[in-house]
Amino acid sequence: MRLPWTPAAAERDSSAAALRVQNLSVDYGNIRALVDVSFELLPGEFMGVLGANGAGKSTLLKAVSGLVRPASGSIRLGETELVGVPAHRVPATGLAHVPERRRVFPSLSVQDNLALGAYATPPDRSRAELLDEVFTLFPRLKERATQLAGSLSGGEQQMLAVGRALMLAPRLLMLDEPSLGLAPVIVEEMFDRLAAIHRELGVSVLLIEQNATQALEVIERAIVLTTGEVTFTGTRGELEGSEYLQRAYLGL
Ligand SMILES: Nc1ncnc2c1ncn2[C@@H]1O[C@H](COP(=O)(O)OP(=O)(O)OP(=O)(O)O)[C@@H](O)[C@H]1O
Ligand SMILES: [Mg+2]
Repeated sequence: MRLPWTPAAAERDSSAAALRVQNLSVDYGNIRALVDVSFELLPGEFMGVLGANGAGKSTLLKAVSGLVRPASGSIRLGETELVGVPAHRVPATGLAHVPERRRVFPSLSVQDNLALGAYATPPDRSRAELLDEVFTLFPRLKERATQLAGSLSGGEQQMLAVGRALMLAPRLLMLDEPSLGLAPVIVEEMFDRLAAIHRELGVSVLLIEQNATQALEVIERAIVLTTGEVTFTGTRGELEGSEYLQRAYLGL
């Protein structure tokens, strides 16, 4: 099912970016983690954020979801300026953030974890309908609905973290290295599910991924961060065609 605010790819209009980051800088004390970062994500687009360890990828997502306060710059989700919006109010704007290292509540059941995800669901979507959507995408979560989240495998916990984010019916889903620490076969499954979420729910996606080769299977465009600066913005084809990027990120 397609959400009302996400037009099909053919209707994409660059004047109506889903997310527009402009001249964003973030400092941690004396450390400048992001320097004048600007990029746009179009409605319904699947965009990658690539870069080495410490490049500022997680900081970018944290700034968007209000977890770190930028030193300067603007972050607009559709028409809404997010800079200055407290983190607990951000989900209601239609943005879901699956942080680095799956964070599920281990002593709660799968279904209770999912129910907690629905705390800022838009009024026009019912919890039951969203739960159904999540269980269709992740049948294994349905089978394990009453199991404690802490007893799930790593891959299942990551799927639960993504499912919980989908309970917000987000228009933008941000994922911080969802494949981290998972076995290759589970990584394949995760990426297959992310592609399905993008295709079937029409959600815009911003994905941090260390494994650029894997990311290229799903992303349409990417930015590359190098010590806090955007050093590349382009399509998957442009990324694949760049010798420098191939060496730096694709291990070729
Ligand atoms: N809370 C913090 N306090 C001080 N410095 C921080 C903090 N969080 C991150 N940094 C620094 O900011 C820079 C960017 O960190 P960030 O976590 O955004 O990088 P990353 O690209 O996500 O790296 P990784 O691939 O290892 O997850 C790094 O130099 C890091 O040490
Ligand atoms: Mg990180």
